[in-house]
Amino acid sequence: MISYLLEPIKIGDINLKNRIAMSPMISNLGSPEGYPTDAYIAYLSERAKGGVGLIITEYTYINKLDSRGSVNELGLYSDELTPKFMRLTEMIHALGSKIFVQLVHAGRKTKRDVIWGNTPIAPSPMPLTDEVREMNLNDIRRIKEEFISASIRARRSGFDGVELHGAHGYLLAQFMSPAVNRRNDEYKDGVKLVEEIVQGIKESKMTVGIRLSVTEFDDLGLHPEDVAEIVKRLEKAGIDYVHLSAGRDGPMNSSMPFYYKHLSFLEEIESIRDKIHVPLFIVGSIMNLHDALKAREVADVVVLGRSLLADPYWMKKALTNEPIRPCIRCNQSCRGMVYREVRCDVNPELGWEILPPMERGKGEVEVVGGGVMGMEAARVLAKRGFSVTLYEREDKLGGQFLLFKDPWKINEFNSIVDFYKNELERLGVEIKLRSEVNCNNGKCIYAVPEQHSPEPPELKGKRILIDSTLYAYHDYAFYLAKDNEVYMTEDSLSILDRTRQFLLKENLKEVGVNFVQKATGSFDVVFNEKVRDQPTIGKSIQRGYWLGRTFSLR
Ligand SMILES: Cc1cc2nc3c(=O)[nH]c(=O)nc-3n(C[C@H](O)[C@H](O)[C@H](O)COP(=O)(O)O)c2cc1C
Ligand code: SF4
Repeated sequence: MISYLLEPIKIGDINLKNRIAMSPMISNLGSPEGYPTDAYIAYLSERAKGGVGLIITEYTYINKLDSRGSVNELGLYSDELTPKFMRLTEMIHALGSKIFVQLVHAGRKTKRDVIWGNTPIAPSPMPLTDEVREMNLNDIRRIKEEFISASIRARRSGFDGVELHGAHGYLLAQFMSPAVNRRNDEYKDGVKLVEEIVQGIKESKMTVGIRLSVTEFDDLGLHPEDVAEIVKRLEKAGIDYVHLSAGRDGPMNSSMPFYYKHLSFLEEIESIRDKIHVPLFIVGSIMNLHDALKAREVADVVVLGRSLLADPYWMKKALTNEPIRPCIRCNQSCRGMVYREVRCDVNPELGWEILPPMERGKGEVEVVGGGVMGMEAARVLAKRGFSVTLYEREDKLGGQFLLFKDPWKINEFNSIVDFYKNELERLGVEIKLRSEVNCNNGKCIYAVPEQHSPEPPELKGKRILIDSTLYAYHDYAFYLAKDNEVYMTEDSLSILDRTRQFLLKENLKEVGVNFVQKATGSFDVVFNEKVRDQPTIGKSIQRGYWLGRTFSLR
């Protein structure tokens, strides 16, 4: 029942108006000095307008020495930043939501150039990318003070609470994980450091929670039963809530792609649920209302990440039954965020919330092309007030989506086509299938991609090599493997996010695709296009958006 998501709840000293929270997500919309820019404030404000009870900011660094993980991350390392953060908290409060700041020290999970040329530090000298320095007791004391000072600054800045980032292999997780903490001193027990930080923060009466990885997907790392023990100790130390995610350094990580189940970590969380006595937040591929209600059966607060990037109005729309623009878990434009601003393949407005409202329009417009580009253009035009007719040559909407062969892709990506169908109907767009028009007048938009994916090849009994970064060939491998001997080079998948790469490889192996480091031997057919620029869903939707947004009747 949707009302379970609408019940208020008290977290520490703070009352949340409902049970939906926005997950912490690095955006790189902050300034190089670490303050929230107007673009960042607009980005979060949109999510507050969308009705979430709580926003947890992106990870936010605590010192200007060695703690940062991304170049334009938020930072709460100095009192000078407080007024800038007040602009953010004031706005979110005015819009009726609460806001916590997630505090992080990246530890070994950063690079020298991101931390002003300094050497990354870690509990033990085990590098991840750049060389690391093992922390001494002074470092540990310093870090503890920095977390506590940042939380005092957070309170002065108007934040309602702080969340310690103790998940995903960042410094606090490095201390707690037996895979990474090889110390011989008192901080071999890494939970001790976290207890001390929690106690220090509680002295200033701030509400404080912690994000933990319920599993690190690694035999040597943390497992649910270890996490239950950690929670027990942190509850004693005064923690106000626990937020369970998963992953350490990959390839399996917190943002699971479409090859992995919805409610990704539910089973692991359920296995320790009865050992947690403070409010429990859970996250991980909670994509639709059905998932959210299922999550709520286990959790006190349901946390949404990419769903809110794809549609900031997820919560409001779920209540009013309006079509929600779904995140398709492609991990294309929202991952690999050290040096780029966040973007979303299905939501061209992400990162651009600061743009002025669209100009109103009037009159009839024709859009040619029933792929995502045309559907997005039609959507935007209809929202602007035009009366829109969409023409598609085929007997179905979807364009190049109709070529997909990867069963997981078909399953998840079709949700965006369904969204457009429902949204266009809601907006009163007339759709004419099996129709072609001459698009050569001032009231017509031609919304068909210039670049096309290759057609699925018809081959049988062949020895085929795929040494190509074209997404289309990764996809066609599923069906080529049915009647052919298919080989794929490791390099072919190198353009994908690591988790997607890992899971796709597993799935392709399952249907018989052979992976090779290098192509050797002879093949009947070779697909070897290596491209930097290829058709993507993100590019098509973005083009459709701008065609619709900039159109005017002459
Ligand atoms: C763009 C992006 C940035 C992220 N940054 C953070 C972060 O700053 N702190 C954090 O704890 N998790 C971060 N994550 C993980 C998310 O908070 C979330 O746990 C994960 O995406 C799973 O939730 P979802 O399936 O609802 O997206 C990030 C994820 C994305 C997609
Ligand atoms: S880029 Fe893909 S995974 Fe990321 S939020 Fe958008 S749809 Fe979801």
